[in-house]
Amino acid sequence: MENVTVIVLAAGGGTRMKSKTMKVLHPVAGRSMIGHVLRAVQAVEPERVVAVVGHQREQVGPHITELLPGALLAVQETQDGTGHAVRVAVEAAAAGPVRGTVLVSAGDTPLLRGESLREFVEEHAASGRAVSVLTGRVANPFGYGRIVRDADGGVAAIVEEKDATDEQRRIDEINSGILAFDADFLLGALPRLTNDNANGEYYLTDTVKIARQDGLSVGAHMVDDVSQTEGANDRAQLAELHRQLNARTVTAWMKAGVTVMDPATTWIDDDVVLERDVTILPNTQLLGATVVREDAVVGPDTTLKDCEVGEGARVVRTHAELAVVGDGATVGPFSYLRPGTQVGATGKVGAFVETKNAVLGEGAKVPHLSYVGDATIGEGTNIGAGTIFANYDGVNKHHTVVGKHARTGSNNTFVAPVTIGDGAATGGGTVVRQDVPPGALVVPGATQRVIEDWVLERREGTAQADAARSARSESTD
Ligand code: UD1
Ligand code: CA
Repeated sequence: MENVTVIVLAAGGGTRMKSKTMKVLHPVAGRSMIGHVLRAVQAVEPERVVAVVGHQREQVGPHITELLPGALLAVQETQDGTGHAVRVAVEAAAAGPVRGTVLVSAGDTPLLRGESLREFVEEHAASGRAVSVLTGRVANPFGYGRIVRDADGGVAAIVEEKDATDEQRRIDEINSGILAFDADFLLGALPRLTNDNANGEYYLTDTVKIARQDGLSVGAHMVDDVSQTEGANDRAQLAELHRQLNARTVTAWMKAGVTVMDPATTWIDDDVVLERDVTILPNTQLLGATVVREDAVVGPDTTLKDCEVGEGARVVRTHAELAVVGDGATVGPFSYLRPGTQVGATGKVGAFVETKNAVLGEGAKVPHLSYVGDATIGEGTNIGAGTIFANYDGVNKHHTVVGKHARTGSNNTFVAPVTIGDGAATGGGTVVRQDVPPGALVVPGATQRVIEDWVLERREGTAQADAARSARSESTD
């Protein structure tokens, strides 16, 4: 495809969202609405993308240029209509020639498919038309611009709801809001638009009448699935579009060889990758850039964000973010894997275990009721039930190393920084404060020692020291 300029309209306020976040920035399946549009328009291989921003442009502008660094931003100070917005876009693009085809799309249509745009633009360019309108038939056309056809079936005009006659309001073919233009025609038509209508706005859709007056051809490209051009104006519509997009995604994964037991309660973000023979059980959310490898089973009741789950692994009733689960490992039920967790191949993180920044070697197991923070655990090691890796001394975080094939007892506390050697053992209830040599057994022995004023001397200026001091002064008063 040659010389296509894409204009994405995103200046409107979106007040019905009732949100401090601008409408087009609301996420659907892990990507902002405008992010979906910017991705879909890539299918027409645009020479240039111009985004029209207005309301909350300090939020929207940087988001667009982050997603698409080459995008041009055109600022529309007042929202005087879609025709005005396109005029502002064309002016912003003046540095390079606007030629060939101009494709105009709204910024809030997350279901839009790239292939539909591509077909539309190809057909438009081949037809030699001045204007092409992407249209569809809908059950309830209320609020849309209606496609008025002439006796020969050609497109005579697009009439907005507020300007339509009763008869025109009965037309169920609507303007999706996506139009393609011959660039030369568009440049000449924009200054001729007037705001002589019920909204007092410059309507882009009036270019159809101008083309007809000039004896140029106008066409409609009707799509079966016009719902892909639907925008979300409020949160109820946002949820509905998310549901539809999710259904599309889940169906595509099932067709690619993934078993999904309950599509209605399975939520899969757009960038997730699933391999064949993965099984997803009910109430599972796979978010962000999560990858699940062959034969793994995930769910029920699991949320994974930006995680990697290895071949044949099993993750049940788990909440995890930025974690890697090795091949054949098992996680859950009721596990919480925080960023930086790596569960080794065939390893295990069991019930009521929280991990953070923890690297577990092959076959290493933390089966029950533990907190593992800032730790490295060697291959084949088993951590006893109820073990706390005490990584935080109240001020700084420290690291614990447990070597390979160690066996640690129940209800241990490892006070970091500390190292437990390969093949070492600890007895139940041990508080490990000093390094344990390889092969040694350490058992609890010391009686409790109280070191008076330790906090006052070592933690001066902290809330902890202040609290201690005021308690001390109260008790001596
Ligand atoms: C528009 C169309 C209508 C079509 C409908 C499809 C016009 C006149 N009407 O109506 O035929 O059926 O879309 O959804 O084009 N925008 C700006 N600046 C403005 C005005 C709008 O950037 O000054 C942006 C909005 O942010 C939005 C898009 O343009 O992304 C469409 O605007 P909106 O007000 O939603 O148009 P509709 O009245 O729905
Ligand atoms: Ca409007």
